[in-house]
Amino acid sequence: MEEATPMTMAHFQITPLHPSLGAEIAGVDLSAPIDEPTRHALTRALADHLALVFRGQSLTPVQYLAAASIFGPPMEQHYSQHNMPDFPMIGLIWHRNGQQPAEQWHTDHTNRERPPAATILYGVEIPSAGGGTSVASMRAAYVALPESERRRLESLTTFNGLDGHADTRPEDRDKYGKPVEHPMVRTHPVHGSKAVYFHISKATHIDGMTPEASKAYMRDLLDRMIRPEIVYQHVWRKGDVLVIDDRATMHRAHGDYDRSQSRVLWRIIVEGDRPRLA
Ligand SMILES: [Fe+2]
Repeated sequence: MEEATPMTMAHFQITPLHPSLGAEIAGVDLSAPIDEPTRHALTRALADHLALVFRGQSLTPVQYLAAASIFGPPMEQHYSQHNMPDFPMIGLIWHRNGQQPAEQWHTDHTNRERPPAATILYGVEIPSAGGGTSVASMRAAYVALPESERRRLESLTTFNGLDGHADTRPEDRDKYGKPVEHPMVRTHPVHGSKAVYFHISKATHIDGMTPEASKAYMRDLLDRMIRPEIVYQHVWRKGDVLVIDDRATMHRAHGDYDRSQSRVLWRIIVEGDRPRLA
């Protein structure tokens, strides 16, 4: 006998993709309106799994913006030169307009007081091999650090700006380049767990440390924290939507693809809370 399902229940399937983070969501068409129980369940799934993959989507810019809003209000990006014409909340990731793949581990837009809760990528043109996106759990990274270092990191803050980002326009630097302070460990507002939080090239320095010592410490942290056990590598297929929880992960692009082929991702970032350590 088939079990009766209340109409208000969100029904989709969650299949973990890696022991540490990442899950595929089946049974959700992101081009259709999403009801409140489904929105709530997907928000929870993102907090639990930190990276969600929706396969086989077919979206117009308007539909994509509506789908992204499940996870928060879309916010402006500081690479306005790469905005989609007519849809400035969608950024185009496309090497043929002069962009370099962001191959360094980072979390997005830490130069904002309320940095994104999530970065959402939609695979529009995918090379035949390579060009993946890796996501590392900074929740797992935090847990794996020695107790003394966790306590130390919890006492530290970074100051963030756009100083090292020559690929940003002066008007974007004026709007979004003022120093913003963030804790190096933040508590996830939905999940309640702690995660290591910094962006090595947006952080000008750690409070009380020189820029040089700050960079050296962040580089050392990345070298020690990022291990295969905490990394999900997404292999793109056309039509994939990848949602990355920026509050408890870092990510990077892989430039290991044939540059005569096209790789086009549409990026939306959605606003989150001001990072805080509970
Ligand atoms: Fe990024």
